[in-house]
Amino acid sequence: MFYTVLYLLLGGILLMLVVMSYHLPALLKKNSKTDNEKTTAKINSAQNYIYVSIILVIVAAIICTYLMAKGTPWEAHLMEWLNIVIRVMHITFGIAWIGASFYFVFLENALNRTEDVRDELAGNLWAVHGGGFYYLEKYKTAPKTIPKHLHWFKYEAYFTWLSGFCLLFVVYYFNASAFLIDKNVLDISPLTGVAIGIGSFIIAWILYDILCKTLLNKNKTAFAITGFAILVGFAYFYSHVFNSRAAYIHFGAMIGSIMVANVFFVIIPSQKAMVNAAKEGLPLNPQLGKNALARSLHNNYFTLPVLFVMVSNHFPSTFGYKYPWLILAIISLGAAGVKHYLNLREKGRQSVWVMPVSVIILLAACFISAPAKNPNACKSAVSFSEVNAIIQNRCAVCHSAKPTDDVNKVAPNGVMYDTPEEIVKKKDLIMQRVVITKTMPQNNKTNITQEERDLIRCWIEQGASVK
Ligand code: HEC
Repeated sequence: MFYTVLYLLLGGILLMLVVMSYHLPALLKKNSKTDNEKTTAKINSAQNYIYVSIILVIVAAIICTYLMAKGTPWEAHLMEWLNIVIRVMHITFGIAWIGASFYFVFLENALNRTEDVRDELAGNLWAVHGGGFYYLEKYKTAPKTIPKHLHWFKYEAYFTWLSGFCLLFVVYYFNASAFLIDKNVLDISPLTGVAIGIGSFIIAWILYDILCKTLLNKNKTAFAITGFAILVGFAYFYSHVFNSRAAYIHFGAMIGSIMVANVFFVIIPSQKAMVNAAKEGLPLNPQLGKNALARSLHNNYFTLPVLFVMVSNHFPSTFGYKYPWLILAIISLGAAGVKHYLNLREKGRQSVWVMPVSVIILLAACFISAPAKNPNACKSAVSFSEVNAIIQNRCAVCHSAKPTDDVNKVAPNGVMYDTPEEIVKKKDLIMQRVVITKTMPQNNKTNITQEERDLIRCWIEQGASVK
């Protein structure tokens, strides 16, 4: 009853807001007697308030639904759907943002700066796309008059971060005791874990910003080396505090947060200052544009490492390696190297060694994380009953039609080991997760031993027979 009333209320407010968002502009326009620009600004800000309110009401509805479903079988189902919806939003905003980032760095690199370039221009570029010809010009500083419609490209970044932050909660923080914390790595409370996670993003930004302000303009090589060392430090830190999968996502989210902070604290404010100066006819401070360009170039180098880290979460052979931070360090370096090669190429500067060296660095990650060559020898034939006993003991708490685990109330990823067929069907995945990467049982919550892992391996190597 309580929730019905609440939902009716929220639904009513939502409907009202949506109607307002359609009709308010016309209403304001009709009633205003002031000049045009002020009215437009007023309408825009009113419109923004309405949009924010709509989002808040939707968030409230989701929280109500969560509270209603909490402790029932619908809880896991709701979390899964939240996960899907937020993930798709995150990917979509991310594509828009990174796509724009790639596009503008390409523009910058590929500009024609010499032929037929007017005095006020830095360069121009012809392009054909989607059946049309485009001609773009980059100004050295700002045009004499700032055009009325100026695209800013900032919401992609903000929304990518916001949706990513929500996803961090849905996947890791709401179930922190299972997904964030591994007591075999460090025994901390879920709340401490979440605080460390969020705090680390802020600290990373402060360190990076100080580094930019002190070293960037003086010595680029020292900047790159120090920056990389700090990144590796964070990777090391995360993998000694969190469960390795969570460590990976935090590393990616940390870099992603730096990227968004670059947009929010440096790039957009610089651009705003430039636009204002141009509007008032004041001299432009060229350093502002340079700062913004440097930060957006850093973001460009961060993109591939971040993409890798986000995807690696689905591949246990990366985060399952015994030194998870090392793979992160290698991949960050190699992926940034690949981006460097692409940037050089766009500028028309061919480099012989950047690409091969980057590829070798990336292959090193594949090489060192390969399964051991000489595992313990199998003594004798392992029977299915031995393996089944281990699996019922160590896995079925979570992987069963009726899990008894305190966190996983439905079989994770739908994987169940109630019958011999189910076990045999998943034998390759079991090999991967239990024997090679040792990422199952989750956080080794059920204390599987190395001997038991070896028995499972021998049974699979001997043909996984159920007789
Ligand atoms: C404490 C709960 C828990 C225990 C115990 C557990 N798992 Fe898991 N398992 C999970 C969770 C959660 C996931 C999904 C997240 C992931 O892939 O890391 C998962 C995923 C898996 C997957 C990957 C499925 C896929 O679709 O990719 C396999 C395979 C697996 N577990 C096997 C095992 C085996 C074998 C054992 C016992 C040796 C075991 N698990 C014990 C919680 C558990």
